[in-house]
Amino acid sequence: MRHIDPKEHPVAHVHQILLGGVAPRPIALVSTLDGEGNSNVSPFSFYNAFGANPPIVVVSPAFRGSDGTPKHTFLNILETSEFAVSAVTFDMVEQISLASSDYPRGTDEFVKAGFTKLPSVRIAPPGVAESPFVLECRLMQHVGTGDRPASGNLLIGEVVMIHVRESAFTDDTLDPRRLDLVARMGGTWYCRANGEALFQLPKPRHNGIGFDALPAHLLESAVLSGNDLGTLAGVATLPDVSAIREKWKTDLQRLGGGPALPDLFSVELRADNPRGALLLLFADIKGGISPPRRIAGRLQRCAQAFLRAGDIDRAWECALMSDEREIASLREG
Ligand SMILES: Cc1cc2nc3c(=O)[nH]c(=O)nc-3n(C[C@H](O)[C@H](O)[C@H](O)COP(=O)(O)O)c2cc1C
Repeated sequence: MRHIDPKEHPVAHVHQILLGGVAPRPIALVSTLDGEGNSNVSPFSFYNAFGANPPIVVVSPAFRGSDGTPKHTFLNILETSEFAVSAVTFDMVEQISLASSDYPRGTDEFVKAGFTKLPSVRIAPPGVAESPFVLECRLMQHVGTGDRPASGNLLIGEVVMIHVRESAFTDDTLDPRRLDLVARMGGTWYCRANGEALFQLPKPRHNGIGFDALPAHLLESAVLSGNDLGTLAGVATLPDVSAIREKWKTDLQRLGGGPALPDLFSVELRADNPRGALLLLFADIKGGISPPRRIAGRLQRCAQAFLRAGDIDRAWECALMSDEREIASLREG
């Protein structure tokens, strides 16, 4: 571990470390008007939503790191108390990068960056029509966190109107595959929330038993990952090991004798066939071929494969039977 005390490092370094580790960050493309009605649009990734009742967003235009001067977005919001936030999609990245240029105050950055104005309903500043998701916001509170270069400003805004492109919905829910949003990482990295980067994780429906209820041989496993253990620890009750033991003993008795099966265990797992792999292990357990330690490791690999296939019951069976003492007991019959 590298330990970084912010007070002992140059501000630019601390900034880069934060940008790299507090990531991926959503990007707010913030549009504002100055007191004379000139429009401005710039991206800010120190941004997020906080609460829905009322719906709140915070954007943070910092004082410029180079000379400590305020950003035009900051000045405009303090002057007019209104801003629009447009979400950024992959199709917009080059334009938002251009909009982040330091044009003189009063320059219409919609024109510079080639964006189209989307008229707002409740506030004066327009949103960005190229975006599928636009929030109209009114300044609720400004919290300054310092007056030195790179100090942040929290501009807390209440969302007073939301515009979402119809094609972004699947049923009544915003569909990330239809939005194609991008986020900011550290350095020059961005990421695109689409394709293989997206995955689903259902919300827990009950309190899981927790890691502290997992048997020691699973916690010490060299095979099962934190995610595997997390799934196992998410069940509502610890499965009954004696019932599984008896079931497996019956299954083993049913398994006929015959020539030893070829050791195709890894082949079956690679083919996403944990049932086939488990059948081979049964023959191995019954035949007393491999040492219990090896069987235990293989049972955990089966457990892992069942987890990936969404079969939590089978995964738990393999996990509980992967204790070397259980394997010895199965062999005794
Ligand atoms: C993706 C991206 C995210 C940014 N995030 C921030 C931010 O959170 N805070 C900030 O002060 N500047 C941020 N910037 C830099 C501003 O966009 C830049 O300073 C811009 O010139 C400000 O424009 P303005 O003076 O017209 O408000 C970001 C730039 C990019 C490209």
